[in-house]
Amino acid sequence: MSKIEWQDEFSVRNEEIDRQHRKWLAIYNKMHVTMMEGDNEALDTLGQKALDEMEEYGRKHFAFEEDYMRQLGYTDLNAHQLLHKNFYTMLNKFRQNMADGEIVLNSHIIKTVKNWLLSHILVEDQKYALFADRK
Ligand SMILES: [Fe+2]
Repeated sequence: MSKIEWQDEFSVRNEEIDRQHRKWLAIYNKMHVTMMEGDNEALDTLGQKALDEMEEYGRKHFAFEEDYMRQLGYTDLNAHQLLHKNFYTMLNKFRQNMADGEIVLNSHIIKTVKNWLLSHILVEDQKYALFADRK
């Protein structure tokens, strides 16, 4: 398991959204470092903070991205919005389990978030990027 380095294929050909995606990946990378270096207490307290930060940034980013798709007249906006909602559901489950003291930040969480981010940016976000290219 490793950090996520930005690659050209991540680009959705919108400067602001690319900038936001880079920032989001940086938040993920920070969470990854916390997990690799943290002791149990850090994995608990910093883990909850990391998930909060991930969600907070996600909210801002999704709002911007959804506006962009709306302006584009993107036909699959509703389906895409559902995927964004799934992201919160996933994070909230982890967050709740952490708050309940059942888990701390761990490799399963990191891996799940990483897979979500990569498949979302590389597959789902590319769909509106292609839609914009064709316009
Ligand atoms: Fe998205």
